Amino acid sequence: MSDLSDVNEPETWAEHMAIAARHPRRAELVVGLSFLLATLSVFVLGWIYTQNGQPQIEGMMLFVLFGGIGFGMAAWGKWLMPKGPFVEEREVLTSETNQERFSETFQRGRVAVEGRRSFLLKMFIGVNGLMGAILLFPLRSLTDKGPKAGGPLYTTQWKAGALVVDEENRPVHISTLDVGGSLTVFPHGYTDATDDQTLLVRAATTPVAPPGRPDLEKWSPAGYLAFSKVCTHAGCPVGQYEAQFQKLLCPCHESTFDVLDGAAVVFGPAPRPLPQLPLMMDDNGYLRARAGYGEPIGPGFWSRGG
Ligand code: FES
Repeated sequence: MSDLSDVNEPETWAEHMAIAARHPRRAELVVGLSFLLATLSVFVLGWIYTQNGQPQIEGMMLFVLFGGIGFGMAAWGKWLMPKGPFVEEREVLTSETNQERFSETFQRGRVAVEGRRSFLLKMFIGVNGLMGAILLFPLRSLTDKGPKAGGPLYTTQWKAGALVVDEENRPVHISTLDVGGSLTVFPHGYTDATDDQTLLVRAATTPVAPPGRPDLEKWSPAGYLAFSKVCTHAGCPVGQYEAQFQKLLCPCHESTFDVLDGAAVVFGPAPRPLPQLPLMMDDNGYLRARAGYGEPIGPGFWSRGG
């Protein structure tokens, strides 16, 4: 028998093939699970897209998708690709019966392995096809049929009845501020939510409403008014309240908003008023949200629709 030790580099290929040689089905299982995970992530991506998207989950699913395909391919190459030729020492098969038995066993094994590998290959082709299809989804966003901006772009944690609290999560009582005072407030339990930060000002001792909107008097118990602190220009925090002039000032580009006129823009590049949070006072004199914000907070976005 010829000596192939110099061809096969036994130390290297033996090491490479050790796992596959000992547990080929385990290696196939790992590859199959990787492709399966990648396939599932494609379906989750498609579902998320139909729900108007969610960037964090989409990012995670893309990681699983590309990671699953990549790991599966690497595992296949490392553990399942033969690096032969291989030589297996065996006794010389003298009888015909033994030769036939060996031939049958060999053939059975070959068919089983080929069947499993071809299944893995189909999985690989399938997941790549699905991935190609799912990556076409965003093209629909260029048409009217695509998902509309929504979700977190429209909503905050301010809900009807939400208790108004300061940065220390302490409820704000009707007696907390004097006229001319201001305070950054949050909905109870969400003092870390920057999108929810709201500037509370006390403009008078009695309810106030913008000109021509007497119905909004009920939004300002005892002269308390609340406006989103996220500037409608570029999102800077609008934190400066000029009590003497009843104006709010954004420090970034000096947009100025009229507190007594529904935070209408009186100066600067801000394209629209600061959204107002409707307030009410509960039976114990604490301020609560009458409802959430009725419009998106912060800068405009391309499909806000007005
Ligand atoms: S971010 Fe407020 S004026 Fe520009």
